[in-house]
Amino acid sequence: MRLSKSMIAAAALIALTGTALAAGEATIEARKQNMKAIGGEMKAIAAVLKGESSDTASLPTRTKTIAEAAAKSKALFQEKALGGETAAKPEIWGEWDRFAAGLDAMQVETAKLAAIDPTDKAAFGAQVGVVGKICKNCHDTYKEKK
Ligand code: HEC
Repeated sequence: MRLSKSMIAAAALIALTGTALAAGEATIEARKQNMKAIGGEMKAIAAVLKGESSDTASLPTRTKTIAEAAAKSKALFQEKALGGETAAKPEIWGEWDRFAAGLDAMQVETAKLAAIDPTDKAAFGAQVGVVGKICKNCHDTYKEKK
């Protein structure tokens, strides 16, 4: 059977679209996992601050994990990927600089948090508050509510 040029073009297009979809899903999954890791550690830290957990020894590791994940976050959002299982709003890529400024602030403030000795409870608690506000500000604007 001889394939016509248009059939070949159509097949190529289908192949391309398939690849793009798979790549988009991987992008979405990676940025969600990154946020999830940050969220899990923030929750555990909040539990200690509220006195629901006495695991103070883990605090330095947790803040370090958060700072490291925060530093990777911008690269994970760079590629516009929508349409799968995502809560990301399309505005992210329409106002990229504003969105990215939020991720930059998260990176700066989580690095500061990781540098604070958690036994200095007042300073540590205040900085957790600063970071938490950055999370909320961005989610209110750029993340779909569930
Ligand atoms: C500049 C914007 C921005 C900042 C800052 C930010 N997030 Fe997010 N976050 C998002 C977006 C957008 C999503 C949705 C991602 C998706 O579904 O593709 C998200 C998703 C999440 C999720 C859900 C992940 C999942 O399992 O689907 C958690 C948890 C989370 N963020 C926690 C945090 C915490 C904790 C902070 C602060 C330390 C934070 N985020 C800071 C934009 C941000």
